[in-house]
Amino acid sequence: MLYKRTHMCGELRIDNVGAEVVLNGWVSKARSFGNLVFIDLRDKTGITQITINEDVSDELLNKANRLRSEYCIGVKGKVKERSAKNANISTGDIEVFADEMVIYSESQTPPIYIKDDDNVDESLRLKYRYLDLRKSKMQRNLAVRHAIVKCARDYFDEKGFLEIETPMLIKPTPEGARDYIVPSRINRGFFYALPQSPQMFKQLLMVSGTDRYFQVVKCFRDEDLRADRQPEFTQIDLEMSFASGDDVIEVQEGFLKRLMKEIKGIDIEIPFPRISYAEAMERYGSDKPDTRFEIELVKLNSLFINSPFEVFNKALSEGGDIRGICVPKGATHFSRKKIDKLAEELKHYGAGGLVWIKNDAGNITSSIGKFFSEEDLRNILDNCAAVNGDIVFIVSGRTKVTYDSLGFLRKKVAEALGLIDNDKYNFLWVVDFPMFEEDDEGHIKAVHHPFTQPKMDELYKLDTDLLDLNANAYDIVLNGVELGGGSVRIHDKDLQEKMFKALGLSEEECMDKFGFLMEAFKYGAPPHAGIAYGLDRLVMLLLGEKSIREVIAFPKNQNAECPVSEAPSYPGEGQLEELGIEIHMDSANNKL
Ligand code: AMO
Repeated sequence: MLYKRTHMCGELRIDNVGAEVVLNGWVSKARSFGNLVFIDLRDKTGITQITINEDVSDELLNKANRLRSEYCIGVKGKVKERSAKNANISTGDIEVFADEMVIYSESQTPPIYIKDDDNVDESLRLKYRYLDLRKSKMQRNLAVRHAIVKCARDYFDEKGFLEIETPMLIKPTPEGARDYIVPSRINRGFFYALPQSPQMFKQLLMVSGTDRYFQVVKCFRDEDLRADRQPEFTQIDLEMSFASGDDVIEVQEGFLKRLMKEIKGIDIEIPFPRISYAEAMERYGSDKPDTRFEIELVKLNSLFINSPFEVFNKALSEGGDIRGICVPKGATHFSRKKIDKLAEELKHYGAGGLVWIKNDAGNITSSIGKFFSEEDLRNILDNCAAVNGDIVFIVSGRTKVTYDSLGFLRKKVAEALGLIDNDKYNFLWVVDFPMFEEDDEGHIKAVHHPFTQPKMDELYKLDTDLLDLNANAYDIVLNGVELGGGSVRIHDKDLQEKMFKALGLSEEECMDKFGFLMEAFKYGAPPHAGIAYGLDRLVMLLLGEKSIREVIAFPKNQNAECPVSEAPSYPGEGQLEELGIEIHMDSANNKL
């Protein structure tokens, strides 16, 4: 039997008093007092109190007394005004006196409570995700994600973009991570890659004359997982023909302005500030700076030439730097113990130590106090604009180490001291990225991807100084998170070949990997540019969540496993044989 419902569980109000209604949902709580039973009936919209009393049949009363949490039921009854109102729920003015009830299915005691503030271990939440998703917060997250995607679809449709699907079984697209690969049965011994992004296909769509493309698309990257990284994630991906970088940026600002208004009800100011990569690193130690608080890096090299502190001398003589940050009103907060903990965390960024100087009520103390006079220490504090009550932290070493360490530290201390205004949404563009960087082994690699156009007036650096060549690339950053990235593309076959060469790819490798794109460029490729947002990150930030797992219905865990279905799994001998694949058991992990 199925009751046709008249209302959702979060809908009934005082105006509905007297109405005969039908509700379906789950028992959030059942309180039984023998011949009086109260049921909190829940669906995704909220909770309604159902009351069953002695006026009903014994059969119904008995049924009601059997109810347990998470039973799925339907009730018919009359809406009445409550004598004891509950201001905490939207339906708190009324209750429904049931005269009929059906139990659709019973529930075992659920392994997790369906409660927003339940502190249960995340692995259990992910394993029983279908129960976890019953929580009102998770239902809200799914709904907001939907609303964001809808807003994107509406906006880009109005701007003349076509949503076009691109293939999932492809040749690798280089976005800097490892590929997930899929064996081909028909072409034994050969593999598809799952797309790290639709990059090359969206460029082909521009060659095809599609003019403006967009897609809400799954991307796959085999990389170390973090709170804002999943092996499969979703992009809002876009490409525009006959467009400059400024054209792309303008369309995106229009989108983000509309999104903030529709989803958050906030009017944000456009255009967003733009900051060069070099300035972002110098001021914030990060290419995705959080500008909601003011702490900035200060270069202190000139203060320590021939200083008595050997560690600083070494950094300078090896071509490194000495940088500091001033933490306002941090002197009393940061005890020795807390500082030691921070220093420990900074090891991860390559920092050998964390130097500090405090001005605590005019009293100057420092971890390098025995090397410097009080006057010297005061001079350092002055250079960092530190005043009474502040603490200055200093890191020395390779330039990158000072940036990474202090970039991390400024956020960490701002969080610790509550300096971040969570109601602020600071969008900004980071532009003028370097084209290339060196990886840890000293190999040249593209900072974005190899289809990014270099600054055309710097092209000569392709032959002189690759690491000094800048790219026509832009990242959109929100509150210290890289929300998206894009660039103007190369549409000239010769220049594209030069780029591949700079990356150390032989002609053969280029043809093998990207031959189809190079071939397309022979037939009148239009100038084009684009961008892709990380949808999961966008939703996370607009919801104020700390992890993208909170905004994905069925995310992977830290081991890249799907806790619900228990993927990945062993395919079985028959399937492997069919694919011509042999697995060395000693190399398979202990899942087998
Ligand atoms: P990029 O590699 O910068 O650019 O990716 C675009 C955005 O996707 C998000 N993102 C991720 N989100 C969750 N988990 C991940 N593992 C993950 N990796 C990336 C980020 C990022 O800014 N084809 C280019 C775009 C272009 O040039 O048009 C690209 O994919 O928010």
